[in-house]
Amino acid sequence: MTSPIERIVYRSDAVALTDGPVDVSPIISTSVRNNARRRLTGALALQGGTFVQVLEGDPDALTVLMETIETDDRHRNVRVLARWPVQVQLFMGWAMVHVDTRALSSHHSRLLTQTGSGAQVTNVLADLASARLGSVVPGMIG
Ligand SMILES: Cc1cc2nc3c(=O)[nH]c(=O)nc-3n(C[C@H](O)[C@H](O)[C@H](O)COP(=O)(O)O)c2cc1C
Repeated sequence: MTSPIERIVYRSDAVALTDGPVDVSPIISTSVRNNARRRLTGALALQGGTFVQVLEGDPDALTVLMETIETDDRHRNVRVLARWPVQVQLFMGWAMVHVDTRALSSHHSRLLTQTGSGAQVTNVLADLASARLGSVVPGMIG
């Protein structure tokens, strides 16, 4: 029997630094290093001052990580949208992927940062991670 895995999705408010916006790159590098070791996968976006993150993997490892993340002073007001058991890690291969939200439509942007459920946010991030919602490259089919 394979061990159970879970997915958790949350939003939080980025805390701006005195000298400018939050830098996501150091968060991603730390996440990649730590998550790979714990077999956790996921995606992170920063859109208009709101962080949105999906994390998946071993339930205990997720709980421990969320306790650390919640106390991180680079953001505040962490709201968990959903946590549920899953069969597969959708972000397999990405210990943490920083998704580019620049080309996102206002509809998808609203889903991500305001109205979307945990499952909807997961779908938007998964589509972005595989570039399906990115800008359309002229000449490309599909
Ligand atoms: C929005 C956000 C998302 C984060 N995601 C992760 C993550 O997926 N994995 C992780 O290890 N740390 C993540 N962190 C960083 C942790 O809060 C913490 O700084 C880090 O785990 C400490 O790791 P270290 O002891 O190796 O320096 C995140 C921080 C923020 C603000």
